[in-house]
Amino acid sequence: MGTGSVELVAATAPKITVIGTGYLGATHAVCMAALGYQVLGVDVDADKISRLTSGEVPFFEPGLPELLIKALDSGRLRFTTSFQEVADFGDIHFVCVGTPQRAGSFAADVSYVDAAVTELAGHLRRRALVVGKSTVPVGTAARLAELIRTVAPAGGSVELAWNPEFLREGFAIDDTMRPDRLVFGVSSPWAEQRLREVFAPVIGQGSPVMVTDPQTAELVKVAANSFLATKISYINAMAEVCEAIGADVHDLALALGLDERIGSRFLRPGLGFGGGCLPKDIRAFMHRAEELGVGQAVAFLREVDGINQRRRARTVDLVRELAGGDLRGVRVAALGAAFKPDSDDIRDAPALDVASSLHQLGARVRVFDPVALDNARRAYPALEYGQSTFDVATGADVVVLLTEWSQFREIDPAALRTVVARRRIVDGRHALDPAHWRAAGWEYRALGRP
Ligand SMILES: NC(=O)c1ccc[n+]([C@@H]2O[C@H](COP(=O)([O-])OP(=O)(O)OC[C@H]3O[C@@H](n4cnc5c(N)ncnc54)[C@H](O)[C@@H]3O)[C@@H](O)[C@H]2O)c1
Repeated sequence: MGTGSVELVAATAPKITVIGTGYLGATHAVCMAALGYQVLGVDVDADKISRLTSGEVPFFEPGLPELLIKALDSGRLRFTTSFQEVADFGDIHFVCVGTPQRAGSFAADVSYVDAAVTELAGHLRRRALVVGKSTVPVGTAARLAELIRTVAPAGGSVELAWNPEFLREGFAIDDTMRPDRLVFGVSSPWAEQRLREVFAPVIGQGSPVMVTDPQTAELVKVAANSFLATKISYINAMAEVCEAIGADVHDLALALGLDERIGSRFLRPGLGFGGGCLPKDIRAFMHRAEELGVGQAVAFLREVDGINQRRRARTVDLVRELAGGDLRGVRVAALGAAFKPDSDDIRDAPALDVASSLHQLGARVRVFDPVALDNARRAYPALEYGQSTFDVATGADVVVLLTEWSQFREIDPAALRTVVARRRIVDGRHALDPAHWRAAGWEYRALGRP
């Protein structure tokens, strides 16, 4: 994505705003500025805005800090807390606020989306396109379009489109610049044309565009996440069967993945999925489908969720088994806290769920993660934390690998054995070579492997 795109800073190029500057929004704002657009980001979190303004990315995302600095230096990227300023500035407003799981329910909490759109619309006095990127229950766009028509001083000249986001944390810049596909959920040719214009540099790099209606666009996102979650839980269900009969799910997954119709991606057995998207998205989908009277169509997602949760419990069991049946007083080195490698995101992180269960069962758990320690400490203050793999492993009775960071994959079992009290490891992510570890004198256990 080179200099060509920067030529877009023609007077006619649309001015862009990004509402909500978290993992998704900050990345989108920075990338849009890198592509040559004038961008204004807004958030209700004043601290986040001041950190971004001073050139600091408030979370871990490879490459983003450098790109933020460049964008700020170019003068094309600014941040604010004023919706008035955002409405005055922007031609296209991207809504990127959070949609977490509602407390005590499977439903998505859309109150942040509603608040952001209401606040923005109240200031919109000229033609503009509002583009939802947040993951929302199908039907939200139709409701928000009506809300905008009622609230915006510019009324019907403000349109709403949905452009679901598929980026993966850890690969966020690449996924934004070169996505597998762009989905435009639009209600008019004008909205499609505006989106084609703003994504022209991305489309020019070869990403295919799918134009559809807003409700289908909303569905693409939750259907895609449901499919991915199902694929992960499918192989983890096979792991449960393997455990019952002494078969090896690792080999099973390899053999299945070689079938071109199945494919090996997302077919890795282990501790399962977590994070700020998959778990809450499949639950919100189940809830929304119930509301629409088609709950039965996605009832299998309850099983997908259940299998995923059982992997966490089973990992705790494996540690307990290795420790001789009782976790009280057992020193456990927990490697990993983030929900996946290359991220500091600990939302619904399987690693911390397991670590905290072990702690509750009486183990003395010490956790290390290359980037998520600060977040983990805030969310789980009762756990102990260390500064490195060898630090937490010193004196450990069991080591448990919970997030497959590459630095954990590369641990030398011969070196690690010199610091632990006992050579026992649970590989919660099928990230290590069992033969290598066993040869170094370790008792190695992994879910679904004999
Ligand atoms: N994180 C991902 O990898 C990813 C990928 C695809 C889609 N999504 C979806 O994108 C959305 C955002 O996710 P995220 O991970 O960036 O969440 P996040 O919590 O990191 O960021 C959300 C931001 O919105 C801000 N916000 C809340 N209410 C606001 C308001 N009224 N006005 C302005 N800002 C407001 C918050 O302060 C926060 O900074 C969610 O719907 C999520 O499902 C996330």
